[in-house]
Amino acid sequence: MKSGFVSSVALALALTGSVVCTAQQKNSYVLDCKETGIKIQPTMYGIFFEDINLGADGGLYAEMVKNRSFEFAAPLMGWEQPNSDRHSLNDKSGYANAVRTEKKVNSRILRVEVKNAGGYSLINEGFRGMGVKANDLYNISFMAANQSGAISKVKFQLVDEAGKVVGETAISVSGTAWKTYTGQVKATTTVNKAKLKITFDGTGVIDMDMISMFPQDTWKGRKNGMRKDLVQMLYDLNPGFLRFPGGCIVEGRTLEQRYQWKKTVGPVEDRETLINRWNVEFGHKQTPDYFQTFGIGFFEYFQLSEDIGAEPLPVLSCGIACQFNTGELAPMGELDPYVQDAIDLIEFANGPATSAWGKVRADMGHPAPFNLKMIGVGNEQWGPDYIERYKVFEKAIHAKYPNMKIVSGSGPFPDGEQFDYGWKELKKLNAQIIDEHYYNTPTWFKENATRYDKYDRKGPKVFAGEYAAQSVAIASPENKNNWDCALAEAAFMTGLERNAEVVNMTSYAPLFAHEEGWQWTPDLIWFNNLQTYATPNYYVQKLYGNNAGTDLISITDKGKAITGQNGMFATAVTDKITGEVIIKVVNTTAKAQKTDISVKGKKLAKQGTLITLKSDNLTTENGFGKDTIKPVESAFSLSGSKIDIEVPAQAFVIIKVKIN
Ligand code: AHR
Repeated sequence: MKSGFVSSVALALALTGSVVCTAQQKNSYVLDCKETGIKIQPTMYGIFFEDINLGADGGLYAEMVKNRSFEFAAPLMGWEQPNSDRHSLNDKSGYANAVRTEKKVNSRILRVEVKNAGGYSLINEGFRGMGVKANDLYNISFMAANQSGAISKVKFQLVDEAGKVVGETAISVSGTAWKTYTGQVKATTTVNKAKLKITFDGTGVIDMDMISMFPQDTWKGRKNGMRKDLVQMLYDLNPGFLRFPGGCIVEGRTLEQRYQWKKTVGPVEDRETLINRWNVEFGHKQTPDYFQTFGIGFFEYFQLSEDIGAEPLPVLSCGIACQFNTGELAPMGELDPYVQDAIDLIEFANGPATSAWGKVRADMGHPAPFNLKMIGVGNEQWGPDYIERYKVFEKAIHAKYPNMKIVSGSGPFPDGEQFDYGWKELKKLNAQIIDEHYYNTPTWFKENATRYDKYDRKGPKVFAGEYAAQSVAIASPENKNNWDCALAEAAFMTGLERNAEVVNMTSYAPLFAHEEGWQWTPDLIWFNNLQTYATPNYYVQKLYGNNAGTDLISITDKGKAITGQNGMFATAVTDKITGEVIIKVVNTTAKAQKTDISVKGKKLAKQGTLITLKSDNLTTENGFGKDTIKPVESAFSLSGSKIDIEVPAQAFVIIKVKIN
């Protein structure tokens, strides 16, 4: 590059406020491999899960039929009856109507009256369609009571966007008693937006419920389980923990709509459907067909944590509904059921199979305990009402389970009056670990790489429980998962790792978003009915999660931590298991920077590995089938005890070398 061009770029960048370094710039860092005694907690990089953006229903939960049990506010939402005589007075084909029965919880069923055999059809649209793959098998199941007895078969057809049949099966039905029927259909073609069409052989009345279709190929092949590709993405993060089920969904818009874990365990058909609080939360992204079936409930979350090697972190309502909505409070005198939910949850997770709640877990197929070690009290609460309630939970939980770690919260913002108040009060109460949330600009993230340098080493530990750089504004629908944001997060995370003495857990949020069904952006993983893609932010998380190390060591520039000098950020660890040093360097400038790192205190191997994530363009995003920004691995040689490399412009680089 010509120097005249460099200086005009430098001038331009200087005018726009970006960090610039001169052409001669060379960074000389010192890596001291001496032990600092500071451990990187195995929980350091984890996952925040919430059923937002069709994260669970329509996403991770592989159920393809929307409103399978007719419990949505509009009982036939998601279902069409194109030739029903409810729509056309001339066609006497038949109709379906959702009616109430005396069934306990899952109260609605579908009564179908077929007047003209073969003439009536019922079609489910799925969650923005159903993704089916050629030659894959799909498990169909439904409950039915063949009231008039004259209907002999229920036919299921997969149809593509043009209505062409791409797979079918017919299931015989008999008897007036409720029974569960099952069958299988093979897709002949791959379709992103298929629908499930149901027709009937014979005429008469049949009652139906829990009409369901799952791919046979789920995560771990579990029947009616989770989408394999989505869980794989979680597994690949090598997460230290899984926080669930949210997020604001924990709190509910009202207390009645809070997440109640006890209603999410046991037989799936008995789990009471609840409106999803993100349903019509945002005027700009309404999703009126968003409900929680709890097909993924607390058992499934615990099992998922176990599957992906993550510590479970359930978060429970503390008796305060979302303070951005109603802020409804459970009076202090009526807090017992909320506290009891927490106590019982610990028994559900850890109790022997002979205990009341341990038995529920065992009956669901997991007699061994889940070994729960921590529990969250409230999500994003603030003010004295929270502190008052937290105290009651803390006392009750620790009285029965003294070793249970309690995660408390400091509200939705990273600073300000409520944040300061929450921290001050929680500190007085010797809170163990405090959840902080920050959705902010990329600049904020870079400027806050030193955020934890001044945190009290003897105070509560920090859980950076929700964070993501917002390219436009918090929760703006225009936000992008671009490289600018991901790079800023990578820079910020050097500060999390460097402060591992205080910061014990971290997670990006939100996690998942359906291409068409989202409410909030940016998100870590995007998907449609057939595919997923990893955002640049995902790769940043993946690189941290897979290179977490075990022990913090120091890397400095003229004796100081590297927190933005020349736009560079760095942190270093050793990994006692793999016997490596791992250095993470982030160059946020538009210019490559020659960097040498003198290694003290340990002899390193002659060759190392570089993993580079970069883009020349800060607005670059990934997309379906477009993995533009992805980690690239290469080898490099050390010069004696020096690591001498060039850190590319706008790059996140991981340097790994074996310790001799
Ligand atoms: O991540 C989206 C939302 O942001 C979470 O539900 C909430 O905790 C925060 O306000």
